Amino acid sequence: MWRGSEMCGIVGVAGRDAAKKVIDSLKILEYRGYDSAGIAVMLNGRMEVRKAAGTIENLISRYPEVLEMGGELGIGHTRWATHGRVSDSNAHPILDCSGRIAVVHNGTIDNYMEIREKLSIKHEFRTETDTEVIAHLIEEMLSSGMGRLEAFISAVSELRGEYAVACMFEGVNELYLARNKIPLVIGVGEGENYCASDVIALLGLTNKFIYVDDGEFARVSSRSVDVWRLEGEKLVPVEKRINLVDWSPSMASKGKYEHFMLKEIFEQEDVVRRILAESRRYIEGTISMLNDTMRRGGRILFLAAGTSYHASMVGKYLLNSLLEYPSEVSIASEFTRWNLGSLDGDDLVIAVSQSGETADVLMAVKSARKKGARILSFVNVPGSTLSRESDGVFFFSAGPEIGVAATKTYVAELVSFLMTFTELGKRIGARVDHVTEVLPRLPSLVASCLESSNRIARDLSEAIKRENSIFFMGRGINYPTALEGALKMKEISYIHAEGFPAGEYKHGPLALISEGTYSIVIGSNDPEIRDLLLSNVNELRARGSRVISVETGDHLPSDIRIKVAEDGIPEEFLPVVFVIPLQLLAYYTAVALGRNPDKPRNLAKSVTVK
Ligand code: AGP
Repeated sequence: MWRGSEMCGIVGVAGRDAAKKVIDSLKILEYRGYDSAGIAVMLNGRMEVRKAAGTIENLISRYPEVLEMGGELGIGHTRWATHGRVSDSNAHPILDCSGRIAVVHNGTIDNYMEIREKLSIKHEFRTETDTEVIAHLIEEMLSSGMGRLEAFISAVSELRGEYAVACMFEGVNELYLARNKIPLVIGVGEGENYCASDVIALLGLTNKFIYVDDGEFARVSSRSVDVWRLEGEKLVPVEKRINLVDWSPSMASKGKYEHFMLKEIFEQEDVVRRILAESRRYIEGTISMLNDTMRRGGRILFLAAGTSYHASMVGKYLLNSLLEYPSEVSIASEFTRWNLGSLDGDDLVIAVSQSGETADVLMAVKSARKKGARILSFVNVPGSTLSRESDGVFFFSAGPEIGVAATKTYVAELVSFLMTFTELGKRIGARVDHVTEVLPRLPSLVASCLESSNRIARDLSEAIKRENSIFFMGRGINYPTALEGALKMKEISYIHAEGFPAGEYKHGPLALISEGTYSIVIGSNDPEIRDLLLSNVNELRARGSRVISVETGDHLPSDIRIKVAEDGIPEEFLPVVFVIPLQLLAYYTAVALGRNPDKPRNLAKSVTVK
């Protein structure tokens, strides 16, 4: 049997023209999953369900009426199946036997087999999803005489696993919600209310949000929002705060660009400017946690995944070199008892995550906290789980990032580190003047990189698209740049790409080089590193590799040189300016190969499963 474990997007609307609003919000959430889509809508007290495998556009072309239906209440779902088959029947909403209870769910139900077996005697299961047990459980509770709220809460309380659930009952204009470890927000509107997996889905409808916490249940109608939690057997109301999110709907639209990824790459100048101005307010809290840890001689450990892990590697290099304080970095999913080492109350974990919802990061943070470490997070999304579970937060205000490939948020993470570590450096008398002098000019340096590398990246993509494998290499603070360049390339173009420390090549990877292989070498402005890179490039060229260098000047012998920014700018800035042509190269290569860079196969934006 297929396992219906999913990383998806859910939306609910309690208010006028529900179907259209659900569809519009779902479209924004499609970055979370695009295997199948569906909606359930209340029309004059009757529940109508439309669902299909494929994209939301596919759902609309199969059922054009979804845009015109109106409706007083609706829920919707876009699915990213991790185990379950992609099929019409497995698409959400999932119904009970009577077809009067509809459920959308994001997450995994660990004990669904057990529940399914128990319920199969009386209930007819029609899908292969774990979600279906929720619908039948609620039905079962209702038939035992419980009211709707009690039935919903009792059913959800039987689940083991991770979930955000939204449910509706035929004839009742209320959404029933539950959350455990999977993001869920409630949007507060004028005469209507909403729910979604992510605030950006609802930006066109409201900027007021209530964050549902783990273990909470909510009932949402067009006029009211009620939240409860179970204390033992007792259901206790929870007072929730309304948070204002200052993102605008246009931030979540493509504007004049063909893809979100390109838009987000080109936004980087503004993003850097915004961080330097607006994120200043998070500096005091951040440096006080760092300083405190350093005074006590505690460990500083970065934890992150994917692109944020690469940014954390740069963070570690910056912290170690600018503040001359040792720090470590671990891939969040590798932060286990095998390599946790000793952590205690003197230690600081720096958790880095664009979404603030990455399950691997949340789990690692939880184990670090158990050991007593304090948590400082660098996060983009306001109200995200990580930000709420941290002792201190630096929000890096990159605005919503929709493209699955992280671009502007990577640069935002780097700039946040540069800003905070140099500020702390100034206060403790470290040598940081060379960085503080250039930092205010960083937005214009980024603008010039975009301008100088766009064309060459587009031209180069025509050659790169024919390759089976390409290699990226760098040294020191630009070793992570090589890793990030390779990740971007493989993630969206599906061309095999690997990043290596340039010095490691001769220990194995050099065997992969043959006549004509492309090697992308990330340059350096540190004379010692540059000399070492020079010998690496010579070794590559002697074996017939075609070398593309990314540099600020004409320093390395290359077949093609991508020259960006200003020659001689401090090494600390190079990861920011060098990644831009690599992002563009990946983007144009993906487009040249006919791939959709915003929705790479098998991947989702928020990785909320472990
Ligand atoms: C980057 O292009 C990827 N989509 C992915 O590696 C991502 O950076 C990773 O999943 C971590 O996400 P986070 O920053 O939201 O925690």
